[in-house]
Amino acid sequence: MSGTVFVTGGAGYVGSHCCKAFHQAGWNVVTYDNLSRGWRDLVRWGELIEGDILDEARLASAMADVKPDAVAHFAALAYVGESVDDPGLYYRNNTLGSMAILDAMKTAGVDKLIFSSTCATYGVPDRMPMTEDTPQSPINPYGWSKLFVEKILDDYGHAHGIRSVKLRYFNAAGADANGETGERHEPETHLIPLALQGQLRDGFGLTIFGDDFDTRDGTCVRDYVHVTDLADAHARALDYLRGGGGSEVFNLGTGTGTTVMEIVEAVARVTGRPVQHTIGPRREGDPPALVAGADKAREMLGWQPRHSDIDTIISTAWGWHQKEANSGR
Ligand code: UFG
Repeated sequence: MSGTVFVTGGAGYVGSHCCKAFHQAGWNVVTYDNLSRGWRDLVRWGELIEGDILDEARLASAMADVKPDAVAHFAALAYVGESVDDPGLYYRNNTLGSMAILDAMKTAGVDKLIFSSTCATYGVPDRMPMTEDTPQSPINPYGWSKLFVEKILDDYGHAHGIRSVKLRYFNAAGADANGETGERHEPETHLIPLALQGQLRDGFGLTIFGDDFDTRDGTCVRDYVHVTDLADAHARALDYLRGGGGSEVFNLGTGTGTTVMEIVEAVARVTGRPVQHTIGPRREGDPPALVAGADKAREMLGWQPRHSDIDTIISTAWGWHQKEANSGR
């Protein structure tokens, strides 16, 4: 047994896959989630404490009861468009919520934290691939809400000795290969699940947001990384902190970009039918290309994406969405 990890947002997409990885690595896993965007049935590895990170009294008492060795903090809102429409919601949940976690850790004497950050903290970078020292200049409140936390983590580390690993995800995608958890967003806005769910419904047409970008086929380039690989990186980051490692930041991506059109082709290949699609206007705030420089995670955590080729991402996600459809969801 490696100790206990307190997982906020463990009922969500990335959080639930990480709970599985932590469990497999021998950690006792406790999820703390208000189920506002998470799902009770995705909490399969360890117990669930229902609670809001903004409920400071409940959070403090849960942490005092669990006495974790480390915290992995996933609980956050992650819709870019929603963050533009309602920035207060994002700063309250993502930024103030993270401060509540840090204060509860301070009180409970917990000194190790894994934090879910995002490539959205970089904004529109002027060079590719983006390394961890690429200047950060977010273009939406979601990115800012996460970047502020990165800064707060540095300051709490300095003042209170809380060591943190910030993991900047690129495009999380795919699902658990055994179908034990997967991506379930309501509403769904992400490319791969939308394209796959469309294959299960008649009359659905995917809109491609722009084909006039300065990319190899005119559609946006993203760095899709399998959620199981992300989970492996989190387990490694916990080991790193447990081994006495100091605060660090890592990009989690593959270093390979894939266009929207290449995803559409891959979905057709994996599902065996063409994807009905039309070309629409650009979506506001979409950078043309986001590709990670991920050497640092390889070098310091020994992390190597193993499931992130596009066909594996799409076939595991396809398995999950078929299962969801068959279960009546
Ligand atoms: N796209 C379409 N049609 C759709 C949905 C998406 O063409 O119906 C395109 C987008 O324009 C983009 C690509 O598919 O080029 C991927 O879009 P997603 O919405 O799946 O993912 P994003 O790249 O927009 O978002 C991801 C994370 C966010 C994070 C963001 C940083 O999901 O949390 O990267 O840019 F903020």
